[in-house]
Amino acid sequence: MIRSHIVGCGAYLPGNPVSNAELARRVDTSDEWIQQRTGITQRYLAADGELTSDLALQAAQRALDHAGMKASDIDLIVLGTATPDETFPATATKVQAGLGMTRGAAFDVQAVCSGFVYGLSVADSMMKNSMAQTALVIGAETFSRILDWNDRTTCVLFGDGAGAVVLQAGQGQGTPADRGVLSNILHSDGRHHDLLYVDGGPSTTQKAGFLRMQGKEVFKHAVTNLADVVGESLAAAGLTTADVDWIVPHQANKRILDGTARKLGMSHEKIVVTVDKHANTSAASIPLALAEAVADGRIKRGQVVLMEAMGGGLTWGASVTRW
Ligand code: ACO
Repeated sequence: MIRSHIVGCGAYLPGNPVSNAELARRVDTSDEWIQQRTGITQRYLAADGELTSDLALQAAQRALDHAGMKASDIDLIVLGTATPDETFPATATKVQAGLGMTRGAAFDVQAVCSGFVYGLSVADSMMKNSMAQTALVIGAETFSRILDWNDRTTCVLFGDGAGAVVLQAGQGQGTPADRGVLSNILHSDGRHHDLLYVDGGPSTTQKAGFLRMQGKEVFKHAVTNLADVVGESLAAAGLTTADVDWIVPHQANKRILDGTARKLGMSHEKIVVTVDKHANTSAASIPLALAEAVADGRIKRGQVVLMEAMGGGLTWGASVTRW
């Protein structure tokens, strides 16, 4: 059967890091509060005029370089973002043009912080249906543009960035021992819209709007939903938590990562944590963390890597890959 394999990873963080102390000079907050509640120490913010597509293009080029491939090898781009350059066209098509790629298809997926897991699932499904051979799956965001910098309960939590993987179709036996993506599980529940949303958009206010969040409620849903979907994705892959070598979670908050691991009875040492260095970068956070753990040699061939995320919608999902 067809199995899609991650054969390259790339990451891009814009500009210089902005520390909690620097943020505390313009927002009524403190390094101590932010670190204690979230584990975040700094974030990266895109410069004026630096767009989501610019960040995505850098990450995509780095993923291609890592895979030893050229843009002409790619026949699909799926880009997860909640902060597109424009209402339309899709930011993915701007990346396609930026790479000089003229064939195949490029489109965006909107699942907020779950955007990368959703995008990976879409690309994997298209490969399994022989609709694509080699894809770029990208998560890219400029959340700084939709933050209300007068709302200290949200603006300290997010940052800008992009990450990308190259996914290539291969063959497997259809067993848990196969290399490649073994399972994807996606969920959403639109009843929870008001817990995390942006109070604007083309059809409502004709302005981009600002992120609004009920933090405590989101926290509770995150730990429960993530633990459940991890169990589902492992069962679908024919594996258990004992088989997992690395959890690469959406990097929202260190306490959510710890709470989910505790609920699953999994060791903290297996979690790849980068939220401290770039805050919550929404759809970009999983490929940013993947790129780091692959580059520093933690993730090795044959190991089981579990990715999971939850975001506005609510949306959530998990994906199991044997590297
Ligand atoms: N600096 C200083 N004080 C602050 C700040 C801040 N930035 N923000 C809030 N406070 C104050 C509040 O005003 C409140 O003060 P009060 O007690 O005098 O009223 C106090 O800190 C506690 O506020 P809470 O909202 O109760 O803080 P809580 O412990 O719930 O932590 C947080 C807030 C970090 C947002 C937490 O609820 C959380 O992590 N939620 C998950 C949200 C999340 O990560 N969302 C990301 C998107 S979804 C996802 O990616 C999974």
